[in-house]
Parts: sequence; structure tokens; C-alpha cells
Amino acid sequence: VPFLRILGIETSCDETAAAVVERDAEGHSKVLSDVVLSQLDEHSAYGGVVPEIAARAHVEALDELIEEALQRANVSLNEVDAIAATSGPGLIGGLLVGLMTGKAIARAAGKPLYAVNHLEGHALTARLTDGLSFPYLMLLVSGGHTQLILVRGVGDYQRWGTTIDDALGEAFDKTAKLLGLPYPGGPAVERMARDGNADRFAFPRPLVGEARLDFSFSGLKTAVRQAAQDIAPLSDQDVADICASFQKAVSRTLKDRIGRGLQRFKTEFAATFPAAAPATGEKPALVVAGGVAANLELRGTLQTLCDKNGFRFIAPPLHLCTDNAVMIAWAGLERMATGAAPDPLDVQPRSRW
Ligand code: KG4
Ligand code: ZN
Repeated sequence: VPFLRILGIETSCDETAAAVVERDAEGHSKVLSDVVLSQLDEHSAYGGVVPEIAARAHVEALDELIEEALQRANVSLNEVDAIAATSGPGLIGGLLVGLMTGKAIARAAGKPLYAVNHLEGHALTARLTDGLSFPYLMLLVSGGHTQLILVRGVGDYQRWGTTIDDALGEAFDKTAKLLGLPYPGGPAVERMARDGNADRFAFPRPLVGEARLDFSFSGLKTAVRQAAQDIAPLSDQDVADICASFQKAVSRTLKDRIGRGLQRFKTEFAATFPAAAPATGEKPALVVAGGVAANLELRGTLQTLCDKNGFRFIAPPLHLCTDNAVMIAWAGLERMATGAAPDPLDVQPRSRW
């Protein structure tokens, strides 16, 4: 294994981030620095991410953040082997800022550039944190994405399910907004749900029972709006009950959807993970990533589901589940380690990918 050290840059949404990650000749990997600047304060007044504000904030912060990441790692640019920058999917303004900066550094320092798919960063993180081997299943649930992905190898992914409307984090955020709770909505809804009666409202569980592995959350949001209108003005207890009932519906939906995904995985990889082998520790794994992975009730649901199905449930530490540059540096490192050619310096960012 060659020794590799990579500088990563992430600017696809509302986090400006830079990090340095290395892997030594024995295959031990190490995060040398991990700097993240959240733009939460800039966006919270608008109840969501404003692309133009995000792009400007990236421009203002990125150079210094990269300096800081190198300093904290105690390395100079000459001592990194490559630059990895997110090139999509995401908000195009932010992607341009990060990718252009990555290109400029690569050009000036004479280093190869890896243009990294943000989702690939999320998908490969569990190999850095848990040394996971292929194949495994990954559930990405963030403000922008809801995807169930089969990770077969570096650069080898198959999307098994995605949302046909809202992302799960978006559903939390919209529900919070409807109920007058602050942005971002996920933590607020979870907090309120603790004191609520989850059985008071029978919210829909979209696509439950269907064979395909997709998700849908807009109907749930509509049902929440209807319930809130029917009983307005809302008391704190009403809000708590709606939050608890919402979370329960989400939890049941995930249980059904992901449960089917685990079954499919077991069927497809019966030879790789024979049912007789659990005693030897050779269990398949489900990895969760994205901000919604912070939700303790949903984590509990996934943990129980995995236990029942003989899967390991892997939730990387939260700061590596949400947007960060460590995962981008790591994805670049993994690609470089496979001998993949770097990207040309005229590579373009892609808002959709
Ligand atoms: O991965 P992330 O930090 O950023 C991107 O979307 O890229 O995810 C943010 C999303 C927001 O929608 C937020 O409401 C949601 O994750 N979230 C949660 C919780 N904490 C954050 N959703 C449910 N429960 C939580 N505790
Ligand atoms: Zn993300």
C-alpha cells in the first residue's frame, strides 16, 4: 500500500470544509485535520439554505479554512499527494467556489486533482471509520438526499432507492416550519416529540408494502399541515403530539423500506454472507449517513431492524455523518489508491449527479 496524504475541500451546500487525511504503508488511516465552518446562522432567518448567500460565504471562508486545515495537520502543500474537491451534486455556486479553488491549488502546487462526488464521500466514510469491506448497504438521509445505495467498490455503486419527492431531512424541516419550530427542523421536532403522544395522529406511511425500495415524504408533510389546521390554534402539547406522530410514521416507513433492502441484500449476496456464518463475525452491514442520522428514535429503529436481520448497524460519528471534508479527502484517497487517473483541470461541477 502506498503512503497517501490528501487535502479535501467541501462546499456543496451550507458547510465550508477542509481536511487532511492520510493512510500509511500498513494501511492505517488517520484524520490529520477536520475543519468545518457551518453557515447555519446566515441561513436560519430564511428557514432554509439560500444558494446565493451560501456561495458568497464559501468564497469568504474557504482560503483561510484550507490554511487552517494544513496548519492543524502540520503539513505544507508540498507534503500532500493530491487535492480532492467536491464537484457535485449540490448548489452550483458553492461547487464552483470549491472546485475552482481545488483546481488552482492543484495547478500551482503541481498536484493531481480528484473531483469527488459528494455522495461517494458519504458512501465511503464507513471504510475510514470502521474499516468496512465491500459490499455493504448505505442509507443516506440528509436535508438534500434520501437514498439507499449498494456500495460494491470504489466507484461502483448501485442506487436501490431514492425519494420520489422530498428528502427526509426536508420533511423534518418543513414539518417544523409548519409548527412554528426553528430551523433546522430535525433537532426541534425530535426534542418536541419526546413529550408527545405518538398515537394521537395516524399519519400516512407512504409506499409501505410496495416492492420497490423508494421513499416518499410529501404526503406525510401534507397530512401534518392538515392536522395542524384542523386543531389550530396549537398548544405545546398539540405540537408535541404531532411531532411524535410524525416521527413514528417516519420510523415505520423506514422500517418497511430498509427492511426490504436488507432482504434484497441477503438474497443477492447469500454467497458472500452465508446465513450460517454470523458466529464468525462475517455479517453484512448497513451504514447510515446524513444529518437525519442524528435522530435517536430513527437510529433505534434501524439498530433493531439490523439486529433482527443479522446485519451490523454502523453509524459513523456524527461530525463525519454530516457534511465535512474528511469524507471528500478520503474518497480522493480511495480513488488514488486504486490507481484511478486524476481528473483533468477543466473538469466541470455538476449540480445534479
Ligand atoms: O447532512 P446534513 O447536516 O446537511 C445536508 O443536508 O447536506 O443534514 C441536515 C438535515 C436537516 O434537514 C436537519 O433537519 C436534519 O438533517 N436533522 C435531523 C436531526 N438533526 C438534523 N433530522 C431529524 N432528527 C434530528 N435529530
Ligand atoms: Zn451531504
